[in-house]
Parts: sequence; structure tokens; C-alpha cells
Amino acid sequence: MNEDIQRILFTKEQIAEGVQAAAAWADRLYEGKKPLAISVLRGSVMFFCDLVRAMKTDVQLDFMMVSSYENSTERSGMPKIIMDLSTSVRDRDVLLVEDIVDSGYTLQRMRKLITERGAKSFTSVVLFDKPVRRQVDIKADYSCFHVEDKFIVGYGLDYAQKYRNLPYVGVLKPEIYNE
Ligand code: PRP
Repeated sequence: MNEDIQRILFTKEQIAEGVQAAAAWADRLYEGKKPLAISVLRGSVMFFCDLVRAMKTDVQLDFMMVSSYENSTERSGMPKIIMDLSTSVRDRDVLLVEDIVDSGYTLQRMRKLITERGAKSFTSVVLFDKPVRRQVDIKADYSCFHVEDKFIVGYGLDYAQKYRNLPYVGVLKPEIYNE
């Protein structure tokens, strides 16, 4: 285990089970359709790749890069689009894939943007939901796991751009972010 991790919250096997269940849900939802799956980079990259590979649906892929932190720990309230989609969402069934819903600002911004651009439908699937941190009234259509208010990293989630490549999700030792 990485020495900065206090404890493992989800092993890679537990994550894989959650991903399989989300993929089965999405396959049922999109039966007979060709959705556009959008990964909100960078945090969702691991979940996105595993999710779309686990889906049987004929899905197209696109990517956006959004950043909601002004510094390493404080939410700005207005997530910035760093990199936009290369595909039109007009008349498409959009499946937005996120690693975590925290304050909810990013999901809210994405839903508004994609709806305003004329998507036929908007559905969100997230790996983690941290409802205790919510600032806006929004909920993902599907979330694999609810998590308590701990600083978690791994499987895409970072602290100061570190730990994204850990295969598990763990709680970061407080001394790391209190330094
Ligand atoms: C994280 C995460 C979500 C967002 C959720 O992204 O990947 O996109 O925060 O938080 P919110 O509900 O409070 O908006 P971040 O801005 O840290 O960028 P990253 O994906 O590059 O890690």
C-alpha cells in the first residue's frame, strides 16, 4: 500500500464489481440506442475506460476536461472547461461519466451545458457520491458507491495531481493535505 494512504476503502475487486453493475444498468437503459459517453477528465479516466469496456452497447466516446479547484483543496463554485468536446451532442443520448459528485457544481454545470447544446437525453453515472458535501440540489442517475466525508484518492482521484494511478481507492493520511 502507498505510504500516504491511511486505509483502503475500496479494493480493485470491489471497484470492478461496482463498475460491472453500472455497465449492466447502462446497457439496460440504452438498449437499441447508440449513446455518446462523455468522460469528464481527469478524474473519471479509469472509471470511464473500465465502464465502457464492460458495456455491450454500441457506444461512442468523447472527452471534456473540467477543473473545479482554484487551488488544491478549495472548490471555486464555477468549474472551468479546460478542453471541450469534439463531437456535437445535438440529438444524442448522452451518458456523462464522473468519478465523484462532491459539491455537485461540476455535474450541474455539465447537465446545463449539454442540455443547452440540444442533447436528446442526459444521464449521469458516477463512481462515488459524497452527499454530505453537496452545495447544490443534484443527484447522479446512478452512483456505484456512497462515501463518507473523507479525503479519498486512487483509481483516478487525486490530491495535487498525485495518486490517480493507484488501483484501489484509499483514505489519504490527514498529515499529507494539512502540511
Ligand atoms: C473532481 C471530480 C469531479 C469534480 C466533483 O474534478 O473529478 O469532476 O471534482 O466535484 P464537485 O461535485 O464539487 O464539482 P477536479 O476539478 O478535481 O478535476 P480532476 O477531474 O482533474 O481531478
